[in-house]
Amino acid sequence: MSPALAQKQKIAIIPGDGIGVDVTGEAVKVLELINARGRLELEFIQFDYGAEKYLSTGISLPKQQLEDFRDNYAAIFLGALGDPRIPDMAHARDILFGMRFGLDLFVNFRPVKLFDETLCPLKGKTPNDVNFVVFRENTEGLYVGIGGFFKKGTKDEIAIQESVNTYKGVERIIRYAFTYARQHGHTKVTMSDKNNALRFEGDLWHRVFQQVSEDYPEIEKEHMFVDALAMQLIKRPEQFQVIVTNNMFGDIITDIGAQLQGGLGMAASGNINPNGVCMFEPVHGSAPKYAGRNVANPFGAILTAGLMLEHLGFKKEALLIEQSVCMAVHEKKVTSDMGGSLGTKESGDAVCDFLQHLSGNTLR
Ligand code: NAD
Ligand code: IPM
Ligand code: MN
Repeated sequence: MSPALAQKQKIAIIPGDGIGVDVTGEAVKVLELINARGRLELEFIQFDYGAEKYLSTGISLPKQQLEDFRDNYAAIFLGALGDPRIPDMAHARDILFGMRFGLDLFVNFRPVKLFDETLCPLKGKTPNDVNFVVFRENTEGLYVGIGGFFKKGTKDEIAIQESVNTYKGVERIIRYAFTYARQHGHTKVTMSDKNNALRFEGDLWHRVFQQVSEDYPEIEKEHMFVDALAMQLIKRPEQFQVIVTNNMFGDIITDIGAQLQGGLGMAASGNINPNGVCMFEPVHGSAPKYAGRNVANPFGAILTAGLMLEHLGFKKEALLIEQSVCMAVHEKKVTSDMGGSLGTKESGDAVCDFLQHLSGNTLR
């Protein structure tokens, strides 16, 4: 490898399945543009992990690949996983959870930001009202896959799915949320659980929230049951700044959040380990019925690319991506899910055009 190449930071690109492929194409187009313009020295390397590979070879995500990502990559970008031919999602669990658990990506960071009031399904809500972040615990809870069947297939069947909550796991996500709040000038953190029904995990979350909050006396701490939170997200989203919650509740809350900002096609996320390689993916799935039809909204994926750049330290470039998407939204250069008439590629091109324009004098 030449010295010049050795200095490049490698980014793994896994388009995955369905519309994951369509939207990743657009995100990479934007990344390549900004990489060239700003001389970021990023190198994008494509991987074909997903349903097709799994069905033809039985390979989902090899252990050595995960180690390679961990040791040699600056970040991973994932499109989406899920294919109707694999109804139990075996490959998707191996790949997605393989990375979330295997790389200890304990923070699932999901910002909810409305760019234009016409995109919000709530009456009278503007971008000032919908602007908060969700920290979803990403390595524990109901997602750990502990449990099993007893007498499967009989009328006496028992299915058990355990929710695992550790002091370490709860403490680190809550602390991360408070630290983020402090660094970003937020004045309140809302922790959401269901401790009126789920006594044991709720008790742990509650105690740890109380303890950690003592280190952040300037930040208001608020507790809200998750059912009430779901209601309040619709009633008065403007009350939220930073929400922290467990894996399962975070999954559900962030689909509500996605709709508040214009739909699943607009929502971005980062799976973060503060001390290691991180993985970035839009919140949406593979939407098989739209796959390969040039109709999927690529903005969630493009904004996700922005989150990735920000994480890598390219803050100016990340801001340019967000501004370009915002301009495309305002100019109605959008796909049909947002009331526009453009295809996936054309709306991605529109973002690139705005980016070219904005970056004229800004990038080095
Ligand atoms: P989905 O997010 O794929 O799609 C749900 C609906 O949201 C779509 O029918 C569509 O109307 C809309 N939508 C989503 N993304 C869009 C986009 N970019 N542009 C326009 N509209 C969009 O969720 P689903 O239908 O519940 O799941 C489909 C598959 O994806 C399943 O296999 C599921 O397990 C998987 N999934 C994967 C991920 C992931 O890889 N991170 C996330 C969610 C779901
Ligand atoms: C998400 C998805 C995944 C999750 C699925 C595909 C397992 O819904 O990233 O939000 O539940 O975490
Ligand atoms: Mn989800």
